[in-house]
Amino acid sequence: MDSKDYWAIAEHDIEIQNPVTDRKLRLLDDYCDIRDGLKVLDAGCGKAWVMLQWAERLAIQGTGLELNPHFLEQARRKSAERGLSEKLTFIDGPAQDFSPEPASYDIVMCLGASFALGSFAQAVDWMAAAAKPGGTLVIGDLTLKHHAPISRPDLHLPDDARDTIGVIERHGAEVSALISASDADFERYVSHHRHAVLRWARENPDHPEHANVLEQSRIDWTFYLKTIRPYLGWTIFVARRDG
Ligand SMILES: C[S@@+](CC[C@H](N)C(=O)[O-])C[C@H]1O[C@@H](n2cnc3c(N)ncnc32)[C@H](O)[C@@H]1O
Repeated sequence: MDSKDYWAIAEHDIEIQNPVTDRKLRLLDDYCDIRDGLKVLDAGCGKAWVMLQWAERLAIQGTGLELNPHFLEQARRKSAERGLSEKLTFIDGPAQDFSPEPASYDIVMCLGASFALGSFAQAVDWMAAAAKPGGTLVIGDLTLKHHAPISRPDLHLPDDARDTIGVIERHGAEVSALISASDADFERYVSHHRHAVLRWARENPDHPEHANVLEQSRIDWTFYLKTIRPYLGWTIFVARRDG
């Protein structure tokens, strides 16, 4: 099964497609100094929960980049239902195919999709280039929980939050705030995936991709239990672009 279809099944039940709760995401209002007139770019926006709730309350102009047609359809439908189509534009395709006008966005966001822009450092470069001087970068990603050295090169673990801040700051932005998923937040996020897939499998026993979907879910669930749960967290870094 195409991974886009798999993720549409696994993320069927959730609107926020990262481990952070809605309550924590609302901290971005303050950390991004959100107000009328801002131009926002969201790479890998998924169902675009953050931009939708900003556009509902404020006169922002948002652009979402997304390649999964299931999520795009949902983002566009919700935007239309809430009368926000004038404020939000969704662009279909790989984020890297979009060439943002340099230094033109007040907020450049990428939650859980830095890989869509290359390495983490390349994602920060791409985002910093699109942001106005003094604009805000919002990047959420996996982080190593503890700095204590873990000798597991086989697991390809990411940096911890401190080293990730170092990468962002060497790439042209100063980190001013962090929002982290708790272990319980991450457990809830992954459990939603597992629960939705197992329900789909019960409801679609004759689907030609039945076994593949279950196998992918087993891999993801095992990755969570063996690697994420003991070693990893998930943090949003809010940073101000130099200038
Ligand atoms: C973990 S989800 C996060 C979605 C959303 N940012 C959120 O936090 O709710 C990652 C998203 O990136 C999208 N994605 C993956 N590769 C992409 C690419 N090359 N270009 C654009 N979007 C991509 C996926 O389809 C998915 O919607």
